[in-house]
Amino acid sequence: MTDTVLEAPVLAIDDATADRLFRTARTVTTFAEAEVTDEQLAAVYDLVKWGPTAMNTSPLRMLVVRTPEARQRLVERVPEGNRERVANAPVTLVLAYDTDFHEHMDVLMPHNPGARDMFAGDAGARAEMARTSALLQAGYLIVGLRAAGLAAGPMHGTYDQIDAEFFAENGWKGFLVVNVSVADGADTTRPRAPRLGFDDAAQVI
Ligand SMILES: Cc1cc2nc3c(=O)[nH]c(=O)nc-3n(C[C@H](O)[C@H](O)[C@H](O)COP(=O)(O)O)c2cc1C
Repeated sequence: MTDTVLEAPVLAIDDATADRLFRTARTVTTFAEAEVTDEQLAAVYDLVKWGPTAMNTSPLRMLVVRTPEARQRLVERVPEGNRERVANAPVTLVLAYDTDFHEHMDVLMPHNPGARDMFAGDAGARAEMARTSALLQAGYLIVGLRAAGLAAGPMHGTYDQIDAEFFAENGWKGFLVVNVSVADGADTTRPRAPRLGFDDAAQVI
């Protein structure tokens, strides 16, 4: 029994899956022609929504930018160096966090009926919590896109301008722009850069 455990692979997913999600997946900067549908995006969201967030607050929000008119409004609100990529992606997501996530707490935390009111009076705590958990959800989303055979190109936008242009009514706070393409044919012009190893990134005490 012991031998079997020792010989078992450390990862619980197969190599092809590990490659697809991480090892060979790249941040795309050139895009396949193929369409990315709302159904695909919804399926990805339905998968990654199960990733953990603080108190299940689930603060990530997404604006799906698809039409040429909407795309142009976004292109004008990302740094110069990112404009061509946003202009050419099949679809682009503006990721944001919702500091009014507490309005959903009755659904998100039915076992704690006081959660909404607990957050209602503390906008500062809500903003901090929303940003932290939405950043985590962005990571889940990038991996989820890869799991669906899509490719992600995360990049920065000019968020004060993005918020004023797109989120004036709902108050969402933009924090990342993600170009999405089908992985087959999507590519990058950048060489793969090394990563830090476990010994550099971890301290074991
Ligand atoms: C939070 C974040 C911000 C990024 N901002 C930009 C950006 O503004 N412009 C850009 O071209 N790439 C941007 N990137 C892409 C990274 O440079 C890229 O993901 C990283 O170098 C790894 O590339 P690889 O996945 O191809 O190995 C960003 C990525 C992340 C996660």
